[in-house]
Amino acid sequence: MNEGASRARHVAIIMDGNGRWAKRHHVPRAMGHRRGVEAVRKLVRSVESMGLECLTLYAFSSENWKRPDEEVSDLMNLMRKFIKSDLPEFMANDVRLKIIGDWQGLAPDIVEMLEDALEQTAKGRHTLAVALNYGSQQEIARAASKAAGKGEITVESITAELDTAALPPLDLLIRTSGEVRLSNFLLWQCAYAEMLFVDTLWPDFEPEHLQTALDDFATRERRYGGR
Ligand code: FPP
Repeated sequence: MNEGASRARHVAIIMDGNGRWAKRHHVPRAMGHRRGVEAVRKLVRSVESMGLECLTLYAFSSENWKRPDEEVSDLMNLMRKFIKSDLPEFMANDVRLKIIGDWQGLAPDIVEMLEDALEQTAKGRHTLAVALNYGSQQEIARAASKAAGKGEITVESITAELDTAALPPLDLLIRTSGEVRLSNFLLWQCAYAEMLFVDTLWPDFEPEHLQTALDDFATRERRYGGR
């Protein structure tokens, strides 16, 4: 009997492989990111039917600023379009938007759009957490500093100050495109998360892939260091 197995509440995804997808299809890199947004859209639509409480997506890391200006600008424009076009759908589908990372450091018009989207979706039951200008080491340092300002530094006091404090504990981390590393994403939250690395490039990642991952998760026995 697999007593440790259970349904996943919170899944996070490192969406990798947009560039390789574009190369493989002989189209500009920007097209790979555009198809990546399509994959996000399809996935968000299926979150409710999969019974997930929270889906967290790594959309832009604090290290992604090192990419060429044109690519950064493409990604920011995709973000603008995504928020504008998908906000009504989030609201219709009971999706609550949450942003993690140092997102106040983004362009002022994006910050304004995000603030508006956060307010409008605040009552949604399913959370879509988007990591923007996010770095996990930076998040932990910020949290530790806040915890120290309030008293003793403990695992609990740091956890309570993380950007993810209001989200369910992370159950499963997925990375696409065959790379096996965390790239400064949810390092603290991954302490007891299950991990799945799949070869599929992000634009080809379909809701069926997530369903398969959730079915696989349900068979895993989680012991949290016990036996
Ligand atoms: C990694 O592919 C992907 C990113 C750096 C950005 C992910 C962003 C999106 C899917 C679009 C924006 C998301 C939202 C929520 C609107 P890569 O470019 O590193 O691919 P490569 O490793 O094959 O070059």
